[in-house]
Amino acid sequence: MPEVHNYFIHDLLDSLPLAVFCKDYSTAPGVFVYWNKSSEEVFGFERSSIIGKTDFDLFAKEEAEFFMQKDLETIESGKTIFIESEPISRANDVLRILRTWKVPLVSNNKKYLLGITQDITEQKDLEKKLEDEQQRRLQDAKLISLGEMAGGIAHEINNPLAVINGYINNLSKMSGKKLLEPQKMDVILDKMSDTVQRITKITTSLRILSRDESQVECKSENLLTIVQETMDVCSNRFKSNNIELFVDISPEVKVQCMHVSLGQVFINLLNNAHDALSELDQREKWVKIFLKNTKNGVKIIIEDSGKGIEKKIVEKLFDPFFTTKEVGKGTGIGLSLSKSLIEKQGGRLYYNPESENTQFIIELKK
Ligand SMILES: Nc1ncnc2c1ncn2[C@@H]1O[C@H](COP(=O)(O)OP(=O)(O)OP(=O)(O)O)[C@@H](O)[C@H]1O
Ligand SMILES: [Mg+2]
Repeated sequence: MPEVHNYFIHDLLDSLPLAVFCKDYSTAPGVFVYWNKSSEEVFGFERSSIIGKTDFDLFAKEEAEFFMQKDLETIESGKTIFIESEPISRANDVLRILRTWKVPLVSNNKKYLLGITQDITEQKDLEKKLEDEQQRRLQDAKLISLGEMAGGIAHEINNPLAVINGYINNLSKMSGKKLLEPQKMDVILDKMSDTVQRITKITTSLRILSRDESQVECKSENLLTIVQETMDVCSNRFKSNNIELFVDISPEVKVQCMHVSLGQVFINLLNNAHDALSELDQREKWVKIFLKNTKNGVKIIIEDSGKGIEKKIVEKLFDPFFTTKEVGKGTGIGLSLSKSLIEKQGGRLYYNPESENTQFIIELKK
């Protein structure tokens, strides 16, 4: 290699798009002995004002202490330390996010700390924007599916309301004809009261199922109760499409779960079965929910009378935003959201390709 002059190395380091600096650590805190051009930009201090100074002359006390601690760690371990991202208040400027390698350097028997820093503020901003955008899309999708669900709920409540309306008509006809006998009235009032209770049950379950559970831990919950709550909010819709619902779960079975999240997963799976069966011409339309015991938990099997799902669709079932439904009907988040909800509860959710009828399986611990 031809001889390389000092000025060449100097220009070379100055042209790097990374801040490079060096501190003499004969004693702590280290004294700056080198500061390249990019360091001026990244940290906001001129080279001429740096040399001979320490971090304590330039940065806030806590920051300077943190730098010194990392420097000493590096020098004592003799190994390079990588600081993935750290916020730093630049001179007269807003906070910057920096990524730094600290390298132990021994030259002429003297200990130095070599620092290489990249300003990743813009990159982090971009990542944050992308994350926000994804959150927004997910939120939009949730709202759309909430809108769809609201349609279903309206149906659930409209049916019993129509029943009450029928009884009111009966009562007013009877009253017009002066036929209001106390006994007949009692029967009608009982029926009305039952129907009102049915609506109350639907709205109560709905309130439970829409609770925010992001801060909740798993605990032992009665499985049948959760399944019944989900039935409350969708059984009318199944009935009016002639889809039968069978549940075979013993009342004593308990699983480790988050009550609301598990209910939301059942709703998603039941809605999917409902949509699939509504499209089918076959006469036999049913959904069954039943259990199989596993070594330390249960398999909850949600099976519908569909004949399974095409292989090329199965591969994408759990992808976010994958849907085969027409625009405005499906958002494609039901299954991906359900999968992550179940995994958060230490379980698994998957499609069973071995089954003759369409089967989704939830595994949870007991
Ligand atoms: N039981 C089922 N039978 C047949 N196909 C199903 C069944 N469950 C899901 N699928 C298919 O999987 C796709 C994705 O389901 P997913 O629940 O994620 O979204 P979606 O139902 O289309 O929309 P969303 O649930 O967000 O309203 C569905 O569009 C459908 O093609
Ligand atoms: Mg769905």
